[in-house]
Amino acid sequence: MQKLIGFKKINVAVFISGTGSNLKNLINHSLKKNSKFNICLVISNNSKAKGLIIAKKYEIYSKIINYKNILDAEKKILKELKRKKINLICLAGFMKILTYSFIKSFKGKILNIHPSLLPQYKGLNTHQRAIDNNEKFAGCTVHYVNSKLDSGKIILQKKVRILKNDTSNKLSKKVLKQEHILYPKALKKVLANL
Ligand code: GRF
Repeated sequence: MQKLIGFKKINVAVFISGTGSNLKNLINHSLKKNSKFNICLVISNNSKAKGLIIAKKYEIYSKIINYKNILDAEKKILKELKRKKINLICLAGFMKILTYSFIKSFKGKILNIHPSLLPQYKGLNTHQRAIDNNEKFAGCTVHYVNSKLDSGKIILQKKVRILKNDTSNKLSKKVLKQEHILYPKALKKVLANL
């Protein structure tokens, strides 16, 4: 583990299923001077996730986990987390639901980013649902993960105005930009309290 003056860096694992733009952004933040965390492990349930290419490029160890059996999958993940001495997990577009027992074993140490202003629009298709309901704002939320979907304590949120001609696609691009600002900020806040 790399050392800062007087304290150790926190070892972070990022869980992904797809593009990995949040992963890339978090890696870039971890490489900044004075960063308090290292990304030591990337977990993906999807062997075709583009994020795996990003992990490779930055020489971060990644592990593809077969999710046919969720209990086996989580057992393997826990083994990797232990091996890499992971202190904190960041879910970033990870499309699998963690079991109660997994969450319990990392209690208060799992964060997620969700593309809505929680508690509104939990689950999928958040932007289309917000547009269909004529909402004025969409946004994103970083929260702790508990056993209920998208329901853990909120760490930070950012609002994004929905414009008249916004499609779900346009809106998701605008929100994603904000996600890339919000996630490192939230992580910093969490690390300050560890
Ligand atoms: C993001 O919109 C995030 O909020 C959601 O999944 C998407 C992941 O995007 N949970 P990326 O893979 O980080 O580009």
